[in-house]
Amino acid sequence: METWEAIRARRNVRSYDDRPIEPADLDRILEAGRRTPSSTNQQGWDLVVCTDPAQLRELAGVWRFAAHVADSAATIALVMPASDDPDERETYHYDLGQMTMSLMLAAADLGIGSGHASVGDQDLARRILGLPEDRECAWLVALGYPSDRSLTAIARPDRRALEDIVHRGRWTAGPR
Ligand SMILES: Cc1cc2nc3c(=O)[nH]c(=O)nc-3n(C[C@H](O)[C@H](O)[C@H](O)COP(=O)(O)O)c2cc1C
Repeated sequence: METWEAIRARRNVRSYDDRPIEPADLDRILEAGRRTPSSTNQQGWDLVVCTDPAQLRELAGVWRFAAHVADSAATIALVMPASDDPDERETYHYDLGQMTMSLMLAAADLGIGSGHASVGDQDLARRILGLPEDRECAWLVALGYPSDRSLTAIARPDRRALEDIVHRGRWTAGPR
């Protein structure tokens, strides 16, 4: 798939068929994550890849909107240093947001669906993933081949109109 095609085809996929992800494909998705830019190139991230069905079912319990994790072929846990400093947290989250999109686009490029999940129960996530106290699980990215329809470019995405969000040169009030 071309980059432009992958950008237009990516959507949150929350139901997956039984097909496993080839190890080489999973590695490519992880490599896309590794190449993500970060603030001052701090790379304050670690990734825990889970493919064991029993572990995935447990992991789905960390947040009430993470049910799709249970049936994923693999889920990548995005881990960051635990910090109370709001500035530090902001840059870690910005970096991980970028990483999320890199993972998702690399997956879409391979025809693999992906779905975000937040993490509500940090203690549970730490226990399931074996994280040390100085790390927290910021996000989960579930992966798997879509069980509904394959990934193809979405002609009319559910997004605000371009002319609504783009202000050329100066802010202009528009419809919202
Ligand atoms: C920061 C963030 C957190 C999200 N958390 C969840 C989540 O916990 N569970 C979920 O099912 N989707 C989650 N999503 C997915 C969004 O609901 C989804 O991206 C949005 O509705 C747009 O749909 P699309 O990704 O299919 O274009 C999250 C997305 C972002 C960016």
